[in-house]
Amino acid sequence: MTQDELKALVGQAALAYVVPGSIVGVGTGSTVNCFIDALATMKDQIRGAVSSSVKSTERLQALGIPVFDANEVESIPVYIDGADEIDHSGCMVKGGGAALTREKIVADLAERFICIADESKLVPVMGRFPLPVEVIPMAAAQVARRFAATYGGTGTVREGVVTDNGNLILDVRGLQITDPLAMEAEVNQWPGVVTVGIFGRHKAKVCLLGTPQGVKTLA
Ligand code: 5RP
Repeated sequence: MTQDELKALVGQAALAYVVPGSIVGVGTGSTVNCFIDALATMKDQIRGAVSSSVKSTERLQALGIPVFDANEVESIPVYIDGADEIDHSGCMVKGGGAALTREKIVADLAERFICIADESKLVPVMGRFPLPVEVIPMAAAQVARRFAATYGGTGTVREGVVTDNGNLILDVRGLQITDPLAMEAEVNQWPGVVTVGIFGRHKAKVCLLGTPQGVKTLA
């Protein structure tokens, strides 16, 4: 099976977690695009979606799924999104698509985060994938220096990328994220950091992993 077929498989499997009559939280990325396409087949059974990026909003609307502003919504039963890395406790690294801040906001509205990914994303220790951090532009160099001094990681600004919020993404290489909750809490306090791409406080309750043998569920 190709990686695209595995993504389509988990995108389809995630429909089982959609609560009829509800507003669905929708993430960003190529795996979520498969989910959005699948969600369109049951659009008459849901009220609509809250989206985590301009790209996902455009895809949802093109398929006729109403998109609600996050400010209009108090709580949603599920948020469905991909990840760049997942550890065995359900903590994730996210932000490969630069949407991490809005993703964390929508995840925070949700009772359950359902992560969809191919099984290559499951790792014993996160950090091989460069950790995305959304930063206020004037703080990029300072935050990179602080990563080097605190964790020994090397941060570089992602070229040609401005987030939906008008900020930059710093990709930090060379980390071993052995304590995701502690690193998330620490980095989020540094001046100029908007959001760090560690999802520890908002970790996945359920992971649907695409494998050649079918969908493996970790809960
Ligand atoms: C976007 C994300 C995505 O969920 C993550 O990058 C995975 O994307 P894909 O499904 O394309 O592999 O965090 O900011």
